[in-house]
Amino acid sequence: MTLSFEDGNSLFDFVVKDGNGIKGLVDSGIVEVPEIFIQPLDERIEKVDEKGSKEHFLTVPIDLSKLDGPDHDQVVNDIVTAAKTLGFFQAINHGMSLDLLESLKDAAHQFFAQPPEAKAVYLKGVSRSPLVKYATSFTAEKDKALEWRDYVSMLYTHDGDALEHWPKECKEVALDYMKLSAKMIRRLVEILIRNLGVNLEDSRLEALIGLKIVNMNYYPTCPNPELTVGAGRHSDTSTITMLLQDDIGGLQVRVEEDIVAGRKEEWIEIPPIPGALVVNLGDVLQILSNGRYKSGEHRVRTTSKQSRVSIPAFCSPRPTEKIGPLPQQVELDGGPLYREVIFQDYMTHFLGNAHEGKNCLDFVKINKI
Ligand code: OGA
Ligand code: NI
Repeated sequence: MTLSFEDGNSLFDFVVKDGNGIKGLVDSGIVEVPEIFIQPLDERIEKVDEKGSKEHFLTVPIDLSKLDGPDHDQVVNDIVTAAKTLGFFQAINHGMSLDLLESLKDAAHQFFAQPPEAKAVYLKGVSRSPLVKYATSFTAEKDKALEWRDYVSMLYTHDGDALEHWPKECKEVALDYMKLSAKMIRRLVEILIRNLGVNLEDSRLEALIGLKIVNMNYYPTCPNPELTVGAGRHSDTSTITMLLQDDIGGLQVRVEEDIVAGRKEEWIEIPPIPGALVVNLGDVLQILSNGRYKSGEHRVRTTSKQSRVSIPAFCSPRPTEKIGPLPQQVELDGGPLYREVIFQDYMTHFLGNAHEGKNCLDFVKINKI
């Protein structure tokens, strides 16, 4: 079956509003990418060496089990170094079984393999569950060009709700994954904040990771990968995100230009490592640390070879939580780089605007004259 669309609007409706997704479009047999997915020149992604970079913390995963042994200090040091530079690292011995990781990828494939009608019940506005949203692209209505990705987003409130409302194809594994990720993320936040010389109370730590969401991303094969992006460049608004990617590859992180070190800006691949999870800091840790830690700017390229799945677990502050640079850090630095914001307002700003790298942080940045 080859579909024909009179204009971009009917194509947009087919993909986004009717819930066929990019997957539905690809399954219809298209041989070239329609206009609405073609990225402006400066957003396109050049073909890269898929073997990835030699960036240490991206190729040599941090063994989190060593936090409980004699190498504790060294591991903390590695985590802190990654947090201050790339905002990304890979982790092994993270407390999740390989079985769970495999089941998660299978569940993601199962969810997206369903016919469009089965997924469309979770579309925004009509979703049968307030906790679940299925969509294509990120801010489809605002983006200059649509991303080449379908995703389903599941909000965690408590176990009972998840088992009742999340899609049956993936709810059990996604719930296990969410809980184990949250445990790990809590530990990492504690380590990172303590390293700034601050001991947060348990209740504040909990509040900083109190909003928990698991997504499943599906990136169908793309006939013209050089014209599209799977996910446009952005940083996550979370406190910390944990991400499982399959073995296809395509996730890239931006390394900022460093004039002093004589290094140009570049995008480097985060190579898939069997059994490892990708950990990335979100904007919240950059704000709390007054810029000491970096939220990593990242994007995903598409490929013509095979469809790809990834499963991020985002831990963010509770929506009512006030976020700002920690007073101890501000004192040390001689002033705040960011103003205080209620996390809900930060999210609303993020969701209401097309993504452009880390520009959401500008919303809270204090401009020095
Ligand atoms: C995201 C994201 C990366 C990936 O969902 O926020 O950045 O590899 N995903 O899919
Ligand atoms: Ni992301």
